[in-house]
Amino acid sequence: MTDIRPDIRDRADCERLVRAFYGRAMTDPIIGFIFSDVARLDLEAHVPRITSFWETILLGASSYRGGAFRPHAELNMRVRLRAGHFERWLLLWRVSVDEQFSGERAELAKAHAARVAAAFHSRLEAMATGVPLSDVPDGAEVPAPPVLTITRHSSG
Ligand code: HEM
Ligand code: HEM
Repeated sequence: MTDIRPDIRDRADCERLVRAFYGRAMTDPIIGFIFSDVARLDLEAHVPRITSFWETILLGASSYRGGAFRPHAELNMRVRLRAGHFERWLLLWRVSVDEQFSGERAELAKAHAARVAAAFHSRLEAMATGVPLSDVPDGAEVPAPPVLTITRHSSG
């Protein structure tokens, strides 16, 4: 059988993917409350930023300036983001990728999300063990467990 799903081609595709993801995430029984009740996410303001994040990773654009970790550290002070939350996030992301796209970039979208989720989670755990957020400059690396390689990116 021929796979008729295209790969992710342009910013419009990134936005379609992001919207499909939030369509699930905002009403999800496990993580939905974090977006809707805790963060009270303004989706129309958020979609362009997150679209730029993915456009930068998948299409080599430099529309995202970085610093993605910090809002999660702030969020984590209001509701502890657990491994199960990240697993759920990743499941919804993979489903959203696979329903619309297939190809190298689609695979990269899933692989990179898994890396970022793992990195965010272990940075949050490291912070929970004592590094105050006020000591973490925006975009800074937090000491991570030795098993994890933190990759620095200069995306613009
Ligand atoms: C196609 C090349 C890649 C691009 C354009 C890219 C881009 C990015 C961007 C824009 C971020 C967000 C940075 C921020 O908001 O501060 C990020 C985070 C990250 N990337 Fe990549 N990436 C690439 C390849 C990789 C590879 C090959 C790995 C590991 C094998 C990797 C691992 C990570 C990790 C662990 C993070 C989270 C870092 C953290 O904040 O703790 N990336 N990447
Ligand atoms: C438990 C899992 C996660 C939850 C509950 C979550 C929730 C959120 C929320 C509520 C915001 C908005 C924060 C604000 O504007 O105040 C946000 C921003 C963001 N998230 Fe997540 N997130 C999760 C995991 C991830 C992962 C795994 C990635 C990347 C693959 C990611 C990428 C981003 C980016 C790029 C932003 C925008 C940051 C900016 O404003 O520059 N998130 N997230």
